Amino acid sequence: MTASPADTSSSLASVLAAGLAIFAAPPLYAQEAPLAYAVAGDAIERPLAGQAGDAARGAALMGDRHKSLCVLCHSGPFGPVQLQGTLAPDLTGIGDRLSPGQIRLRIVDMKALQPESLMPAYYRIADAPRVAAAWREKPLLTAGEIEDLVAYLSTLKE
Ligand code: HEC
Repeated sequence: MTASPADTSSSLASVLAAGLAIFAAPPLYAQEAPLAYAVAGDAIERPLAGQAGDAARGAALMGDRHKSLCVLCHSGPFGPVQLQGTLAPDLTGIGDRLSPGQIRLRIVDMKALQPESLMPAYYRIADAPRVAAAWREKPLLTAGEIEDLVAYLSTLKE
């Protein structure tokens, strides 16, 4: 049995429709482009996403070696000690030493304070021409994730 011209065009239409649906769907690994933030002194006072984060989610993210990477360098009262790094200051009691706004800037863009810092800038807009276009607008963590970390680290008091 051969397909009539009508069948062919309707199946073409459905293929096209499927293609358009894929186009319309957000890319799988889409990250929000960074929201503007204001640095005052050594802090970003306002939450990036306009609202405070969730400390419990922040604790989980802090211990996630693959997503946040924090424990590759930092130690503190989170996760197994033997899996924690020693390249960076221990974060025990960081909530006493730094305000939430100071913690926020350090996660967003430590290099703004210490240009040679090992610590990745987690929310800075990558401006280096070396960065491939596909990565330029993608922060390492979302605004909401950064706020979760700020909320959690602010609870670390001695
Ligand atoms: C590649 C190593 C590295 C990673 C990964 C890293 N940091 Fe850091 N961090 C540092 C270093 C080093 C410093 C100290 C400042 C400096 O000398 O650059 C620092 C400083 C800080 C400070 C300030 C500490 C203080 O006592 O003043 C905070 C807060 C912080 N990091 C949070 C984080 C969080 C949260 C993450 C994960 C989202 C993270 N860091 C990931 C290396 C790292």
